[in-house]
Amino acid sequence: MILRDKVAIVTGSATGIGRAIALKMAEQGANILVSDINEESAQQTATDIAALGVRSAVQVTNVIDTDATEAMAAKAIQEFGQIDILVNNAGVAGAPGWYERPASTEEDWRFTYQVNVIGSVNAANSVAPYMKTARYGKILNLASIAGREGRPSLPHYSSSKSAVINYTQALAGELAPDNINVNAICPGLLWTPMWEQVGGRYAMNDPQYEGLEPRAVFEKMIAGVIPFGSEQTPEDIGDAALFLCSDEAKNITGQALNVDGGFFMR
Ligand SMILES: NC(=O)c1ccc[n+]([C@@H]2O[C@H](COP(=O)([O-])OP(=O)(O)OC[C@H]3O[C@@H](n4cnc5c(N)ncnc54)[C@H](O)[C@@H]3O)[C@@H](O)[C@H]2O)c1
Repeated sequence: MILRDKVAIVTGSATGIGRAIALKMAEQGANILVSDINEESAQQTATDIAALGVRSAVQVTNVIDTDATEAMAAKAIQEFGQIDILVNNAGVAGAPGWYERPASTEEDWRFTYQVNVIGSVNAANSVAPYMKTARYGKILNLASIAGREGRPSLPHYSSSKSAVINYTQALAGELAPDNINVNAICPGLLWTPMWEQVGGRYAMNDPQYEGLEPRAVFEKMIAGVIPFGSEQTPEDIGDAALFLCSDEAKNITGQALNVDGGFFMR
């Protein structure tokens, strides 16, 4: 149990990767604050976590709102008395309806940066004072392999994830004197609700995927770009998150780890 009695806040943990990270951390003994805008699914995640024998609570939080991230941190302190880990997982691929648009709009740029970049900054700013007082903390940001290299598809998304990698380095330097580690994970291709929409968008806009179902787009892309030839899973990301948020990784900070089956070897 490498996280026994630790307390973790996982943003966007109602579904997908965030849910898997929260469950992995709970299996390793951490108490979890499930934070998301989707209250119903967040409650389900919290129920599933409690069944593992640790404590869980839900705080409905929109990470773009600083009052909400402050309330999220306060709730963790009120429920559990400490905050050891923050996972900034909440993310979007565009403004509502993005997957039906062939090109990025100004609102896609604004909304995506608000959630993916500023949302991470808000949550980190809200937990940092508690971590500084404790002189202990782990902050993990979810970037993406999309942030490793600019591509024409979804430039607002890929550049926001590049910003997350850069911010991870900046924050790691800032918080190192307080004994707080800050790292990022760059997931590869994972079949989550987000990728289902990505697949549909490729089928509409990219001739090589024209007419395919989203899952078929996903599989074709994996066969083309992933050296291992297989998809990554939310559990894969959870395993990497466990390590980076454990004391075994105490000398690792400011890093972005690709978990992508060898897609990007840098
Ligand atoms: N799926 C992939 O292939 C993939 C690849 C690389 C990176 N990522 C990143 O991993 C993270 C999780 O992705 P996913 O695939 O699980 O996505 P998802 O859409 O399945 O889940 C995202 C979760 O974040 C929540 N959320 C969205 N906006 C929020 C906000 N403003 N405040 C709080 N919660 C909010 C949603 O309700 C949802 O529960 C994201 O940051 C995403 O960019 C995903």
